[in-house]
Amino acid sequence: MAQTVLVSGGAGFIGSHVTVELIQAGYDVIVADNMSNCDKTCLLGARKITGRKIPFFKVDFCNRNAVERLFQANKIEAVIHFAAFKAVGESVEQPVMYYRNNLDSFLNIIDVARTHGCRNILFSSSATVYGQPEELPVTEESPRQEATSPYGNTKQICEDILRDSVKAYGNVRGIALRYFNPIGAHPSALIGELPRGVPNNLVPFITQTAIGKRECLSIFGNDYPTPDGTCLRDYIDIVDLAKAHVCAVSRMMEDKMKEPYEIFNIGTGRPVSVLELVNAFQKVNGIKLNYRFAPRRPGDVTAVWADPSKANKELGWKAERPVEETLRAAWNWEKYIAKK
Ligand code: UD1
Repeated sequence: MAQTVLVSGGAGFIGSHVTVELIQAGYDVIVADNMSNCDKTCLLGARKITGRKIPFFKVDFCNRNAVERLFQANKIEAVIHFAAFKAVGESVEQPVMYYRNNLDSFLNIIDVARTHGCRNILFSSSATVYGQPEELPVTEESPRQEATSPYGNTKQICEDILRDSVKAYGNVRGIALRYFNPIGAHPSALIGELPRGVPNNLVPFITQTAIGKRECLSIFGNDYPTPDGTCLRDYIDIVDLAKAHVCAVSRMMEDKMKEPYEIFNIGTGRPVSVLELVNAFQKVNGIKLNYRFAPRRPGDVTAVWADPSKANKELGWKAERPVEETLRAAWNWEKYIAKK
């Protein structure tokens, strides 16, 4: 019988792609989400891609009783936890809301999972924990820096909660995946990123400008000490990123972990500038994008990219999709949404 993975926040951008890849790898998946930051589009899309019913539960993970009921009603062998608030600026304005939501939900999951004999917990962390690294690329041993936002801090605290829980409770093991910049959409264009309001992240802003929803893309800063003056990031394709979760889950389930708590960088290892990404988008999609240079965005780091060799070696995972394909998929998704 297939093993069952609970995907918290499984109706969102990353969660829905991970759900699809898990099912295609032979796992049973239960999606639970409070739908606070998404609609049903990606859940329905995931069902269509996989041809599977995909059980869905509307659950707020801050509600311990609801989490308890979820684990009572289902035999869950692993949890992948995505359900969290993720807007950096909003977290600065509403720190209590961010700490409460992002920490309570994870504490409930760890507590309830272990009392139900669910040993395997995967946490979605972020390269934001590295801040502006002194040395590039960053390895998992690179020091974490003091977080510049409550959002970033919740990522660090949740990593620590998982690490300490694994240490204290002999029956729990955990993996934290530190994502660099996830972008793109499924090649089917049936699932993708669906930001509410004005997008904070670069690629949704690009695609919304291309479709005419936004007038002009602002490139935040062209005076950085980088080759073209714009920031450098490690843009990782969303399907590649999702596949890393399948590798990590099977590593946990098949008892292949070297330590009971492990951390992996999930990135390509290649720095790409904002301008390069914008130009690549224009080229592959044959679109002239309206953009201008604007002042730096407070809180942005100059450059960060991954050394993904630990994930390559230990997880047997590698980023494969060329950025051109990723940007084509992002555009196809935007067009699909516009027609809906
Ligand atoms: C941001 C968050 C990070 C989070 C990640 C999730 C900050 C400081 N960091 O990363 O904590 O984990 O999203 O995906 O917010 N850019 C523009 N114009 C835009 C939007 C972005 O020029 O309209 C530039 C930014 O200055 C940056 C790059 O594009 O250089 C990428 O930005 P973004 O997609 O927001 O990701 P990060 O800031 O790297």
